[in-house]
Amino acid sequence: MTPFPEGFLWGASTAAHQIEGNNTNSDWWHKEHDGLSRVREPSLDAADSYHRWREDMDLLAGLGFTDYRFSVEWARIEPARGHFSRAELAHYRRMVEGAAERGLRPLVTLHHFTVPRWFEEGGGWTAPDAVELFARYVAATVPVIADGVGHVCTINEPNMIAVMAGAAKRGDAGFPPAGLPNPDEETTRVLIAAHRAAVKEIKAAAPGVRVGWTVANQVYQALPGAEEVTAAYRRPREDVFIEAARDDDWIGVQSYTRTRIGPDGPVPAPDDAERTLTNWEYYPRAVGYALRHTADVSGGVPMIVTENGIATADDSRRVDYYAEALEEVAAALDAGLDVRGYLAWSALDNYEWGSYEPTFGLISVDPATFARTPKPSAVWLGDLGFRRELPRL
Ligand code: BGC
Repeated sequence: MTPFPEGFLWGASTAAHQIEGNNTNSDWWHKEHDGLSRVREPSLDAADSYHRWREDMDLLAGLGFTDYRFSVEWARIEPARGHFSRAELAHYRRMVEGAAERGLRPLVTLHHFTVPRWFEEGGGWTAPDAVELFARYVAATVPVIADGVGHVCTINEPNMIAVMAGAAKRGDAGFPPAGLPNPDEETTRVLIAAHRAAVKEIKAAAPGVRVGWTVANQVYQALPGAEEVTAAYRRPREDVFIEAARDDDWIGVQSYTRTRIGPDGPVPAPDDAERTLTNWEYYPRAVGYALRHTADVSGGVPMIVTENGIATADDSRRVDYYAEALEEVAAALDAGLDVRGYLAWSALDNYEWGSYEPTFGLISVDPATFARTPKPSAVWLGDLGFRRELPRL
């Protein structure tokens, strides 16, 4: 067993649009209802966590977790351009305080894929004033995070946002498949600028908060002879975003599966490979590769695994996945990598960007009554929190 290092974060992650429900002022809600896009089903009430966050936090703390990552929703906080809702800011402030009351340290994400509809209609991330608008929103949320929040994530998976922007330009909507089509370069540039502007706003107002962002790590593995192709493939999809975090307080590592690259690009997993409900290859060792690669490219910025998990209806397979993944985390720590925490994706079964079918949750949610039931994997993972140690298989 590898004991948790001092201060190690141990918890689960969520994102507002995926669990709150009725995020009616967001671009995604619009996309879910405009009848044009390929979004399979709408989010509607989601897990109703907008109202039930206390229950969610009670469960997580009771299970043995000490940390909870959740996001605040820009579309609620700034429902109309330049108009900030005091009531919504107070709502999220209550969540921060409610977490502390339960012994959970909040890690707050300021932007997790969704934007207000007015922002999208004004041109989204490539509008001339996008960076300024994001910085203004971040400044407005400072009262939520200034006190009692150790870590803030400015933007979740900017690389996925750039990939989605590239896909949208080519006429595809929705959430991209693993492997990742070409990211949009302009969006990449703007997101890096938006991140820097956000860091500046937070540091000026709340210098004690540790600020970073989280990057989707696809674990690109080169097949023999495809090393250069792989490096070229990985660079715009991953490395530029990791490099942009070199001066940050921490970087979030998020990985689920791997993508093998041959001389002609991504190669599908073998036919007999086990697949999860997202159709990704079952590959729990991904997180070890992701940590090593992030450490290399970032030059040693402290890392937090801010998402890692599996969509499956077979919860015993989820336990297997976490057991192997955590062995990788323990090995990374033993090898001297600076890993500061591990947050599973996801606390709850939630809206997986177009469908409720892929269930990533440690806790199931009844779609009619919203009743929550922790799965055995939640008990298993939470228990490691009580023991403060990582398993060695
Ligand atoms: C995102 C989550 C998503 C998860 C599983 C990450 O890309 O941050 O919002 O649910 O992966 O697909």
